[in-house]
Amino acid sequence: MTAQAVEFVRQFHRERPASGDPRERIRQVLAEIDRTGSYRHTAEELAFGARVAWRNSARCIGRLYWRSLLVRDLRHVDSPDGIAEQCFQHLRAAGNGGRIRPVISVFAPDRPGHPAPRILNQQLVRYAGHRQPDGTVVGDPAGAELADRAKRSQWKSGEGRFDVLPLLIQPGPDAEPRWYELPDDAVREVRLSHPEHGWFTELGLRWYTVPAISDMTLEIGGIRYPTAPFNGWYMGTEIGARNLADADRYDMLTAVAERLGLDTSTARTLWRDRALVELNIAVLHSFQEAGVTMADHHTESERFLRHIAQEERLGRPTPADWSWIVPPVSGGLTPVYHRYYDPVDPDLRPAFLARNPW
Ligand code: ARG
Repeated sequence: MTAQAVEFVRQFHRERPASGDPRERIRQVLAEIDRTGSYRHTAEELAFGARVAWRNSARCIGRLYWRSLLVRDLRHVDSPDGIAEQCFQHLRAAGNGGRIRPVISVFAPDRPGHPAPRILNQQLVRYAGHRQPDGTVVGDPAGAELADRAKRSQWKSGEGRFDVLPLLIQPGPDAEPRWYELPDDAVREVRLSHPEHGWFTELGLRWYTVPAISDMTLEIGGIRYPTAPFNGWYMGTEIGARNLADADRYDMLTAVAERLGLDTSTARTLWRDRALVELNIAVLHSFQEAGVTMADHHTESERFLRHIAQEERLGRPTPADWSWIVPPVSGGLTPVYHRYYDPVDPDLRPAFLARNPW
């Protein structure tokens, strides 16, 4: 921990020259680690660390706005009730009447011999997957495991296709998780319609407006924050080309193609591709009509290249994972397809990481 702490304090002072000489702060941090086995970030260090963790996220195409991340310092909150309440507040602040704001809420870190509570959900808002006796799933198959867990904890669910999962918060490694239903005013959803095809609404599709990842550990200077949900805004393809299209998610392409009257007898008619484009048009159109921030993949790709250029001028590399950056539709139509990126360094910090086990 000491080496990582020192490296982080140096970086903080290097990138923010106004904060002066790092030596005094390094002495403080080392003394605190000596005494307690850990140390506390200042509010400024925390905000900087969270923003840089975003900047370092090799899979994220939306990094141009990393400096604007709103950091909620909630390190004093460590009870499941308090965490749940603050997650609801997070969603309200991020939803912001449709003008989505990137927000992170940082709860208590792991301390030596005292792991922090964890949110078991992958995202603060996600739809349940209800397993049927025949092995199929009603709803989002990606939300089946959490729905199972919540039901084991006495969650009384509906049986619908778009039931918002409760938050499941586990206070400690040997404690039972508790569940919390999300209040209506914390979750906004958009019903999907198509600008030209009236029948589209009959598919009964919808999606929530704030993608808030809640199962990653934020690591800064050797300190792990396992409960630090963060969000940006959606890019249309995440919903239109993955969540609603993937065969192991909502798998809607056949239904859309049938309504479009396409010949689905052979792959060569490209019926899947045509249905996919119409589905993505519907997603972008519906969010626009609802006044909710959403990027299209062409625009977001251009922004990402601007981000790389800007970082380069500051002398910093932008590690990126090509297979995550290139959008899942029309890859070759976007500029991000036609180039290579700085290599991904798994040791780069601060970072968002797959969550550390208890
Ligand atoms: N792809 C995920 C989803 O569809 C969300 C990942 C984060 N996305 C974002 N735009 N910040 O729910």
